[in-house]
Amino acid sequence: MSNKLGFGGWQLANPLWNQMTMAEAVSLVQKAYQSGVRFFDTAPNYGDGNSEKAIGEALKSDRSDCFINTKLGHGKDGSNQFGIAALKPQILDSITRLQTTYLDAVLLHNPPLEVLKSKAHFDALDTLRQAGLIKHYGVSIDTLAEFEIALSQNLDVIEILFNVFFQSPKALFDQAKEKGVMIITKVPLDSGWLTGKYDQDTVFTGIRDRYSLEQKQRRSQLVDEVKRITLSDNITPFAMQFIYSFDAISYAIPGIQNLNQLEQHVTYTKKKMSNQMKKRLEQLYDTKISDNPLPW
Ligand SMILES: NC(=O)c1ccc[n+]([C@@H]2O[C@H](COP(=O)([O-])OP(=O)(O)OC[C@H]3O[C@@H](n4cnc5c(N)ncnc54)[C@H](OP(=O)(O)O)[C@@H]3O)[C@@H](O)[C@H]2O)c1
Repeated sequence: MSNKLGFGGWQLANPLWNQMTMAEAVSLVQKAYQSGVRFFDTAPNYGDGNSEKAIGEALKSDRSDCFINTKLGHGKDGSNQFGIAALKPQILDSITRLQTTYLDAVLLHNPPLEVLKSKAHFDALDTLRQAGLIKHYGVSIDTLAEFEIALSQNLDVIEILFNVFFQSPKALFDQAKEKGVMIITKVPLDSGWLTGKYDQDTVFTGIRDRYSLEQKQRRSQLVDEVKRITLSDNITPFAMQFIYSFDAISYAIPGIQNLNQLEQHVTYTKKKMSNQMKKRLEQLYDTKISDNPLPW
């Protein structure tokens, strides 16, 4: 089985989120590389540049063996930077933080609809590819509607929100595969819910503070359903193996906080999900979620 485990870089030395130091972040990325991980997802605004810096420092001696996927479009102050003239400077800044000479892929980071539909932006990225600054380009998006538009553009990489609770993108997986688009699935554990360790009483801080009590209750009930189907309290391996079972997907990029989580993810790649289990998780989505999708 090919290794579809990629590394989600949002958590790396992110002061908004955790106490991870730069040294710990660098060491975690190095351990991921030593464990066979070759795909690394990051963005300039993850940890205010710390995520790119940690990945750059960790992988500088193994650079040619790794695929570094970063993004552009969001300034440190939260402003949108999707102007065509702003593309190259952002790429050059990422190249500097990553201690490299090129990016394997750069994605427009949740672009506004008019940018997603624009030909001019992708023509500009094509020019930067010809100049050798980037090898591939694409978009990071959230919805099926955006996915459809992205597939009508000539893109190399599409990063999309997809997991047991967000299955709608699979309607376009065959089309993406036919076009040879590299599909990366972000938020594979529904921000941690699909581990089974949170419930309606969990108090979240930071970006996960976004759930209303009603959302926590609904997610809790759905998590219980997954536990019933899998006969397990730890549903993380099932959530990951569900994603790995789709041929069209190149990598899933769980956000990994520590060595223990990394080691567990490596073991999850060794086993395949049965077709029967996959069908039951698809039925759960079809019967309990698709008519009333969860908010992110
Ligand atoms: N717009 C975008 O392009 C975008 C948006 C979101 C994410 N992303 C990318 O996708 C990556 C993943 O998204 P995410 O981190 O938001 O969500 P996620 O991968 O669905 O969930 C990550 C969380 O799951 C828990 N976890 C992970 N592995 C575990 C394990 N083995 N055992 C127990 N718990 C485990 C951790 O929770 P605890 O913290 O509670 O330990 C971790 O913070 C990000 O790092 C980023 O690279 C991109």
